[in-house]
Amino acid sequence: MPVFSLMQSPPGPEAIIDGVRYLYFGGTSYLGLAAHPVVIEAACTALRQFGIHTATSRARFGTNPPVLEVEQRAAQFFGTEEAFYFGSGYSANHVMVAALAGESGLVLVDEAAHYCVREAARLTGRPVLTFHHRDASDLCRQASRQGRVLVLADAVGPTSGLVAPVQEYVQALARCEQATLLLDDAHGFGVLGEQGRGLFEEAGLWPRVNTGLTEEGVSLHVCGTLAKALGGFGGIIPGTHEFIARARTSSNYFDGASAPATAEAAASAKALEIVIREPALRHQLRENSLRLRAGLRELGLAVPVGATANFALVIKDAGNMRRIHEGLKARGIMLPYVSAYAGIPPEGVMRFAVFANHSTAQIDHLVAQLGSLL
Ligand SMILES: Cc1ncc(COP(=O)(O)O)c(C=O)c1O
Repeated sequence: MPVFSLMQSPPGPEAIIDGVRYLYFGGTSYLGLAAHPVVIEAACTALRQFGIHTATSRARFGTNPPVLEVEQRAAQFFGTEEAFYFGSGYSANHVMVAALAGESGLVLVDEAAHYCVREAARLTGRPVLTFHHRDASDLCRQASRQGRVLVLADAVGPTSGLVAPVQEYVQALARCEQATLLLDDAHGFGVLGEQGRGLFEEAGLWPRVNTGLTEEGVSLHVCGTLAKALGGFGGIIPGTHEFIARARTSSNYFDGASAPATAEAAASAKALEIVIREPALRHQLRENSLRLRAGLRELGLAVPVGATANFALVIKDAGNMRRIHEGLKARGIMLPYVSAYAGIPPEGVMRFAVFANHSTAQIDHLVAQLGSLL
């Protein structure tokens, strides 16, 4: 029995998995750019010109034009002075905590946070405590007994799609001596907020984010990835010149890791260009998310409120969800049943991911087929 499935096509509304073409509602290609012909062409052109990668770190000769362009486009997209682009979103929290742990005596982590968030917490070398998932009162209770705290959480649950109550967190932390809040917005970048800048933008807090380390009270910080909605690849940190300089120099990543590969950088730059030029993609994604949620609610399912591109449902028990997964698969639809992942309940979940380029007919077909299996 294979331990993983073989993806034999680009991810998109349809994907070939283990030799079969499915209507696909998995993964994270939310804005539908991972297979965009213009993005792929940009990657191929850059490969021919600059080779696979620069074969050295950013601190030496690692910055080729595609890598630089990602940082310029990302700064444009996020409306910030600068951005730091590096190998993976997984390491984004590691890079950030090196810049942020500073004087914090304690790290508080959402108990359901992604693996990379929890690993980054441990990397600080500070004592680490958890607070209840998305629970601002518990955060307040734990933080108020301490001095300076660093708080880490996902902005959007990678599986659940539930968003952190960021304004409540800020209010809770305002009672602390000094607090730093870092959200990993891997699943919110490109999806949430007026300009797609993520959960902080949606919460009206974007201008305060990644602006430096001198702010009194609660400092707000974010990191994320280009590998999900934004159709590229690699970690991204937008911010002021001052903050980005700090992010680049606080860990050894800039100096010690190969720069992002040329194809992924060129693809990321082109995908960002498209996302900036075509906000309609984001609007379509939102409409698709709302349509899918509404359809599932009509089936009597308790679908969480929101418009993230990903969300999850527990439908009775593990056995029932496996049966639904297999039933849909037999009908040509791939909807993952996730039995284990950071932050999910023991019985697992059905994880839904909707893309900007799913058609309404494809969404309605999923709902109808799922309905017949309930
Ligand atoms: C919340 C969160 N952070 C980080 C990552 C890792 O990002 P990347 O795949 O770009 O390394 C993931 C990937 O699933 C994620 O869900």
